[in-house]
Amino acid sequence: MRISVIGCGYLGAVHAACMAELGHEVIGIDVDQHKIDTLAAGRAPFFEPGLPELLTSAIGSGRLSFSTDIAAAAGAAVHFVAVGTPQLGDSNAADLRYVNEAIAALLPVLRPDDVVAGKSTVPVGTAARLAAIVEPTGATLAWNPEFLREGFAVQDTVAPDRLVYGVRPGDEASVAALDAVYAAALANDTPRIVTDYATAELVKVSANAFLATKISFINAMAEVAEATGADVTQLADAIGYDARIGRRFLNAGLGFGGGCLPKDIRGFMARAEELGVDQALTFLREVDAINLRRRDRMVELATEVVGGDVAGKRIAVLGLAFKPDSDDVRDSPALDVAVKLAELGAIVTATDPEAVETSRRLRPELTYVSTAEDAVAGADAVLLLTEWSQYRELDPVALTSLVSVPAILDGRNCLDPALWRAAGFSYRALGRP
Ligand code: UGA
Repeated sequence: MRISVIGCGYLGAVHAACMAELGHEVIGIDVDQHKIDTLAAGRAPFFEPGLPELLTSAIGSGRLSFSTDIAAAAGAAVHFVAVGTPQLGDSNAADLRYVNEAIAALLPVLRPDDVVAGKSTVPVGTAARLAAIVEPTGATLAWNPEFLREGFAVQDTVAPDRLVYGVRPGDEASVAALDAVYAAALANDTPRIVTDYATAELVKVSANAFLATKISFINAMAEVAEATGADVTQLADAIGYDARIGRRFLNAGLGFGGGCLPKDIRGFMARAEELGVDQALTFLREVDAINLRRRDRMVELATEVVGGDVAGKRIAVLGLAFKPDSDDVRDSPALDVAVKLAELGAIVTATDPEAVETSRRLRPELTYVSTAEDAVAGADAVLLLTEWSQYRELDPVALTSLVSVPAILDGRNCLDPALWRAAGFSYRALGRP
């Protein structure tokens, strides 16, 4: 099947490569020449495990190519729109500029019976509006939200846990086209839900809102644990054994960041307000507030640990990405904490296995080093802010001779307190004694 993918960011590049690997003939399109050149050379413009190998193999097979020219999308039966929908600078709402531009650019390329499949996360109501623009060409519009996680993007795309198609009622042709695209996943009994546009759009934002709520719930419990001496990690284990609750996404710590959860809950609230149902989502304001409070709490803890004032203190920051196995620092809690401490006068030395360059681009004022050992040298406190496996496995005994003061702050509740204490470190964490 011939497929085009408009927008080659975290979502589009992975989708294009995976679809080609599954046997389709794919053209990936993006307005960013540098990104296209990088992808065409078989390199991933961002860190995503498995993607470089997939790009090399798919390009080598002749089934995957890239272009900045939208005309190259002509002849594809399904055109996936996977451009970004970031938060607007001056409000909580999503910026739909790139989606609107992508659809407008596609119009001259579309033939009757082509399917435009939206993948971007959009405010409910967007698909119906775009369908009215697309349909005069004879093409149809479907909304096919994406649930991939960064760090597991290849696996999530090749073997998704569900497929959701939002189509016009009775639009069997779009359903058949998407079924052909996802034939491999469907053959493995992947659940498939065919629904209307509004439901498909809402599935995506409500899934992210639920995940964000789950994380903020446990972080709220961490706040209570801090006031009572309880241990939020044991609490999460204990409630997580209840299958109705489940242990996943109950890791208390610095909270959620990234290019999706934070902006999606804000965009959802903004849309609910436009729809006159803002009360239904006021709880998401709390979810956001709890999440952001964790970052302040980490700064407070660091201040306490170094004796009440961070100014002039050497603070090592381990981890900058919004989560491990990613170089993404969009709305990263770790980078945010590092910047806040530097603003308070701390001498921050930060490192991350993959996210130093992306952090430097955003925050050139911080000092970056390439190894944990260099970061902790002479430190008055060590902050573990992203739970990369190499940081979880650090040997506290080996670090004691490097630091100035053996103090560790575990921002992700991922270390064994007994081990660090036995090595002579003071151990502090969020929601854990
Ligand atoms: C999220 C969703 O999980 C995906 O299903 C969705 O497709 C994607 O957004 C999207 O909308 O594109 P992602 O942003 O890659 O995926 O990251 P998550 O794995 O959801 O993690 C988000 C944040 O929550 C990270 O900062 C992570 O450290 C934090 N988190 C996660 C916690 O603080 N505690 C947890 O227990 C789990």
